[in-house]
Amino acid sequence: MPDGGVLGAEIPSSTGGFAVILTRRGDRIMAFHNECPHAGRRLDWAPGKFLVEGAMLVCAAHGATFALDTGAGVGGPCRGAGLKAIAVQVVDGDVVAG
Ligand code: FES
Repeated sequence: MPDGGVLGAEIPSSTGGFAVILTRRGDRIMAFHNECPHAGRRLDWAPGKFLVEGAMLVCAAHGATFALDTGAGVGGPCRGAGLKAIAVQVVDGDVVAG
C-alpha cells in the first residue's frame, strides 16, 4: 500500500464476514470497519474505491468526512462520530489483527 493510500478488504468469518478500510500514513497502518456512523452505509462508491480529499476519507453516500489516520469524524452529517477502529499490526510486511 503506498503512503497515503486507502484500500478496502473483505474479511471472511463464520457469520458472513465484514468489510474493512485500511489506510496508510507513513509507517502507520490503520484499519476501520467500512460502516459509516451516519446511516450505516459502506463508505466506498464501488467495492474498494474510496473518495479521498487530502487527509480526509469522504463517505460516498452523503459526504461525511473522516481523518484518514484516526477515523475521527470531521464534518458532514455524522455529528462528530468517527469510524470504528480495528487493532492491526504489520508482521513481515503483512497486516494482521492485533
Ligand atoms: S451514510 Fe455516510 S454520510 Fe450518510
